[in-house]
Amino acid sequence: MRLDRYLASRAQLSRQDVRRLLVDGRARVNGEVTRTMDREVRLFDCVELDGQVLQAGKAARYLMLHKPAGCVSATRDAAHRTVLDLIDEPDKDDLHIAGRLDFNTTGLVLLTNDGQWSRRLTQPSSLQGKVYLVETEDEIDPACVEAFARGLYFRFENLTTLPAELALLGPRRARLVLHEGRYHQVKRMFGHFRNRVTALHRERMGLVQLDPALAPGRYRPLTAEEIAQV
Ligand code: URA
Repeated sequence: MRLDRYLASRAQLSRQDVRRLLVDGRARVNGEVTRTMDREVRLFDCVELDGQVLQAGKAARYLMLHKPAGCVSATRDAAHRTVLDLIDEPDKDDLHIAGRLDFNTTGLVLLTNDGQWSRRLTQPSSLQGKVYLVETEDEIDPACVEAFARGLYFRFENLTTLPAELALLGPRRARLVLHEGRYHQVKRMFGHFRNRVTALHRERMGLVQLDPALAPGRYRPLTAEEIAQV
């Protein structure tokens, strides 16, 4: 929310009063006098008016988890273990998942309470490619490389997938880079060639790489550098 609207609603002031108090330098955001009306106020900002704290500001949280197979990418599930069940942190219910994985897909899952950050990561983008290791039941048709690069038509959504890069690593093994995250996208792309995906593992999202030191089911906070890479 914009700072002027935030102050008007929190301190029950008129727009004109808010404008005046901003000009007079009575508002601080994160300790700094702020006179800009359209400054966005986020959950993580500390907002003060005349030295009184209106909002203390929550700590932004960013975690990477090595998702094991047999675990749901959801915060709640009646029947199965969820990725959140693997997290032992205070306020973990504030966290959401930035880019889900299927029940049996393994690899990198990022959890955060920062919606802007996760939107940057999950919106279709050439910068934030998602990298998957894929194993298939049958030999991979080399025609997949060009077809995936051109894009495949998904009738259900009536769309063509964004160009994706497929590198063959063996007869039944490949690395695939996607720039979007459609429902069961990898499985459906190989399904187009009547080839079943037997194992799927996410190695990277954008520049954030799954830490090889993290065993399946383990997690760690992102470093400041990893957070800034998104
Ligand atoms: N594509 C899939 O089919 N499954 C996943 O878990 C991720 C991408």
